[in-house]
Amino acid sequence: MKLITIIGARPQFIKAAPFSEVFRRENVEILVHTGQHYDANMSDVFFEELGIPKPDYNLEVGSASHGLQTGRMLEKIEEIILNEKPDGMIVYGDTNSTLAGALAASKLHIPVFHVEAGLRSYNRLMPEEQNRVLTDHISDLLLCPTQTAVDNLAKEGISAGVINTGDIMFDVVLRNMEISKIKYSNGKWLDDLINENGKIPYLKEKEYYLATIHRAENTNDHKKLHEIFSAFEKMDKPVLLPLHPRTCKLIEGLEIKLNNTIIIKPVGYLLMLYLTANAYMVVTDSGGLQKEAYFLKTPCTTLRDQTEWVETLENGWNMLSAIEVNTILRTVTRELDCWKHPQPMSFGDGKAAEYINRAILEGGK
Ligand code: UD1
Ligand code: UDP
Repeated sequence: MKLITIIGARPQFIKAAPFSEVFRRENVEILVHTGQHYDANMSDVFFEELGIPKPDYNLEVGSASHGLQTGRMLEKIEEIILNEKPDGMIVYGDTNSTLAGALAASKLHIPVFHVEAGLRSYNRLMPEEQNRVLTDHISDLLLCPTQTAVDNLAKEGISAGVINTGDIMFDVVLRNMEISKIKYSNGKWLDDLINENGKIPYLKEKEYYLATIHRAENTNDHKKLHEIFSAFEKMDKPVLLPLHPRTCKLIEGLEIKLNNTIIIKPVGYLLMLYLTANAYMVVTDSGGLQKEAYFLKTPCTTLRDQTEWVETLENGWNMLSAIEVNTILRTVTRELDCWKHPQPMSFGDGKAAEYINRAILEGGK
């Protein structure tokens, strides 16, 4: 079978790694990088660390407004489909790269296989929600990470081609947890933590918050950004913040002196796993990081009004917080008793890549 895989943004490189490996054992994969993310620490590092093959095409679309970025991808992906004549296309998650790939393939009657189908925040203002709803409705195979995702699709009348494969990000965590530990334990993690003032030797395991902020609903609103950074400054432990380039540009005008917040450049996946496993708590608006915190048994506070990953909320492992200084502070200092409760296996058994492969080979011909 010949498949085109579309990737373009940081979380998609991570999700694509295990499937690529399994699928390529007996089939042909044409890997297309849209170029949505292009800085070395947002793209190359994941190919190196996770052994992702070099893309066959890099569309180099770069950053632009939603319409322009998606339109540029659409045009170029169509051309590749016409040249390569694939049997199907696989797309991941909910970015503009996902939608562009799915739309280009669907218009040319190429079967679309959507990994991470069925997630819903029910907030149509989020670009991710628009991308995932539209992609699901033109997909032929809907590869769901959880039963909730299957149920969400059923509510929209979609049942054909829907399969619960478990979450492919769980596969990646299981494969890399030990590698990350070997690379970064015994204080070696501190060697790779560098901010504008140099190394950060005073950080201690379980005595820092690990934070990430990049979602449009938080970063496009100056007041929300102000509330978030004010809360970081008042937290009872240092806040380590590997900062997404989007947010880095948007905080330039922020009038807050940062003492408790340690900003560093985005880090590679292996270091991120180590930082997540050893944080006191993760504070984030990321979709992927909420789950990784859960998989690694680190409590999480999610700076959003809703989450697609509702399973992580059970027993207080993850808690949502409105974007207001005191609410954030109350949520991060909550009494933690989540460890008393076993985590239900809601995200599969770590073999999602194998199940996705089987589903595509059996159903996608
Ligand atoms: C995108 C996804 C979001 C996902 C996130 C993962 C969409 C609509 N959004 O958001 O769902 O959670 O990726 O990280 O697809 N930039 C750089 N260098 C880079 C990449 C981006 O400087 O390598 C800056 C540019 O100023 C750019 C901004 O970040 O304008 C936003 O990048 P973009 O890809 O449009 O959206 P993300 O916020 O990264
Ligand atoms: N991540 C990383 N380095 C960082 C920040 C995040 O490797 O500096 C990883 C994180 O561990 C997770 C993924 O990037 O696997 C999440 O991507 P992101 O938060 O950009 O997007 P989202 O999941 O919100 O779509």
